[in-house]
Amino acid sequence: MYSLDKYVVIGGTPLSGQVSVSGAKNSALALIVAAALAEDECVLKNVPHESDVYTIIEILQDLGVKTDFVGSTLRVDGSCIRSYQAPYELVRKMRASFYTAGLLLARLGKAEVPLPGGCSLGSRPVDYHIKGFQAMGADVQIEHGMLKAEVTKLVGSKIYINRSSVGATVNLMIAASLAEGTTVLENAAKEPEIVDLASFLNSMGAKVKGAGTNVIKIEGVKRLRGTEYSIIPDRIEAGTLMIATAITGGDVVIKDLVPEHVRSVVLNLQEAGVKIEESLSEIRVKAPERPKAVDVETAPYPGFPTDLQQPFVALMSIAEGTSIIRENIFDRFRYVDELRRMGADIKVEHGTAIVRGVPKLTGAPVETTDLRAGAALIVASLAAEGVTEISGIEHIDRGYENIEEKLRSLGAKISRVSID
Ligand code: UD1
Repeated sequence: MYSLDKYVVIGGTPLSGQVSVSGAKNSALALIVAAALAEDECVLKNVPHESDVYTIIEILQDLGVKTDFVGSTLRVDGSCIRSYQAPYELVRKMRASFYTAGLLLARLGKAEVPLPGGCSLGSRPVDYHIKGFQAMGADVQIEHGMLKAEVTKLVGSKIYINRSSVGATVNLMIAASLAEGTTVLENAAKEPEIVDLASFLNSMGAKVKGAGTNVIKIEGVKRLRGTEYSIIPDRIEAGTLMIATAITGGDVVIKDLVPEHVRSVVLNLQEAGVKIEESLSEIRVKAPERPKAVDVETAPYPGFPTDLQQPFVALMSIAEGTSIIRENIFDRFRYVDELRRMGADIKVEHGTAIVRGVPKLTGAPVETTDLRAGAALIVASLAAEGVTEISGIEHIDRGYENIEEKLRSLGAKISRVSID
């Protein structure tokens, strides 16, 4: 991964061919931390090579966990976990590193983890996680930007999770799996990554029921054992590839995905005039020359994912008609300035983008400041006339495995060049 690289894209080629989806980043981050709950080695398969994954591995190594990452198989041995202090320099890079708080409280009864703080998506607090730990008996102090938590033994509790937070649900599932007694998480997140975490924990010997509904029950066990487990496909990568195909008027078979996980994307693309054929683990996307405008609102799963709002806005920027895109989860519209540089006509008002479709976008130098905005700029560049140079692509490396190679294999003219 070279942080000073940029993408140079010559737009205008309809994507065609077949492409496989990698393992889910958001699942991987949760499962890698959960793997260190076991007292012996866990083997995780289908783990994507992405910089967020490398970051969580480095954090665990710093805590004493042994790891070995070969191909897409990651071995995690938490038997030798010894430090309860997570390193600031690594934790601040990524919000999901806060999952180590649940792990450390469960394994060592003590955790010192820097608060992830704000990021380019605006304020992203962790108060629901903290309230959950407190409900499970932990004494929690916040000192100098650091969570300092201690408990003799976590005890099961009934916890209501505000806004069905994905991160809080993950963190509390991790903590509760080794707690004394039963924890009930109400208004829990229902995302497929939560179901994946529950299946993984259960294969380690945990007793988790109800994942995929909004009430999850976790009966704590004394210890968890090593296991072998394969991570689900990345529904956000799958959705990004579907949208990229749609914006170029292409025809692509996207393989190794779970169609049910991208249902909301399928429905909205169909409404935009895109033809979709589904089989067990594949989706064929056949796009019209120009999509129709569709109104979309982001929501927790099974609603339209906030992580695909940006690529979808890019698609709607060349649609026939005006679409209204409402963002309900995060403050995530800064990237529209970059789309405007490419000729898009987008106005943002009170968390809503009003996108007036233009017949075409034109290439321009643009910069991404976060992962999914980067995906939107790639999507836009594939359809734009002329050359687009995308800088800041270290953000894209966080969560898309080999994206330029995958797109190139579909005929896209995209290359990664060093800024030097
Ligand atoms: C996860 C995903 C991210 C996705 C998001 C929503 C991972 C690693 N990241 O992020 O890709 O966009 O879910 O699907 O899986 N909130 C609080 N207090 C808290 C926790 C959350 O106020 O303690 C708020 C957040 O600011 C946000 C909402 O709750 O407005 C939902 O956030 P949450 O589901 O926790 O998102 P993440 O887990 O950070």
